[in-house]
Amino acid sequence: MDGDVDARIEQVLAEYDARAAAEQSLHAAGWDADERRDQLLLRIGPETGRLVSILVRGAGARSIVELGTSFGYSTVWLAAAARATGGRVVSIDLARHKQDYARTMLERAGLAEHVDWRTGDALEILKTLDGPLDFVLVDLWKDLYIPCFDLIAPKLSAGAILVADNMLRPEFARPDADRYRAHVRSYPGMESVTLNVGSGICVSRYAPTGRPSRPRASSRR
Ligand SMILES: C[S@@+](CC[C@H](N)C(=O)[O-])C[C@H]1O[C@@H](n2cnc3c(N)ncnc32)[C@H](O)[C@@H]1O
Repeated sequence: MDGDVDARIEQVLAEYDARAAAEQSLHAAGWDADERRDQLLLRIGPETGRLVSILVRGAGARSIVELGTSFGYSTVWLAAAARATGGRVVSIDLARHKQDYARTMLERAGLAEHVDWRTGDALEILKTLDGPLDFVLVDLWKDLYIPCFDLIAPKLSAGAILVADNMLRPEFARPDADRYRAHVRSYPGMESVTLNVGSGICVSRYAPTGRPSRPRASSRR
């Protein structure tokens, strides 16, 4: 066991690993990934999952937002971390069938009570979310990263962390990823680093001058 990953969570993560391996084999056998995009996990992967969980717990983040639930792989990592900080995850996706699957997996992992599911367009849902937000995982279609960032940024707490996936891979997403990183860097108070973890992630921290960091979870383990 590792961090806040208990045996139930480990079991569920192992099932995602098996599904990802099956998808890889089908892909290698000529499956058209574009045609079947809505059936694929498209997950952040174990290294990014673990890093995201470490960042949430390290920051004591309680108000956590996930843009792009897909089938719930990243939600498991975020919800496990939220359980440790006494926080909650608002997880957003357009696809109801994916969130239904995710909900079942989170229940089986014993993490359902740490997640609020929102089905619909993130660009609409983000307008309705109250801040301050302590941690955001940005992992939906890549052309939406900048408009989502513009909705999120005014709601961030001092010291908030944003992680954006697919900064280095797949190759076709690079132009959108490069534009996103330049956009985030130009936002006052935002510092960023790109890490070659998983598909490449951009980790950003919002540290506006003159605003103290919000007190964080006292129940941190
Ligand atoms: C890369 S997948 C997310 C993978 C997930 N974070 C994981 O690691 O398991 C991207 C998801 O974004 C969702 N999505 C795309 N556009 C969206 C939008 N406008 N609003 C909400 N979700 C959207 C897709 O339905 C898809 O499930």
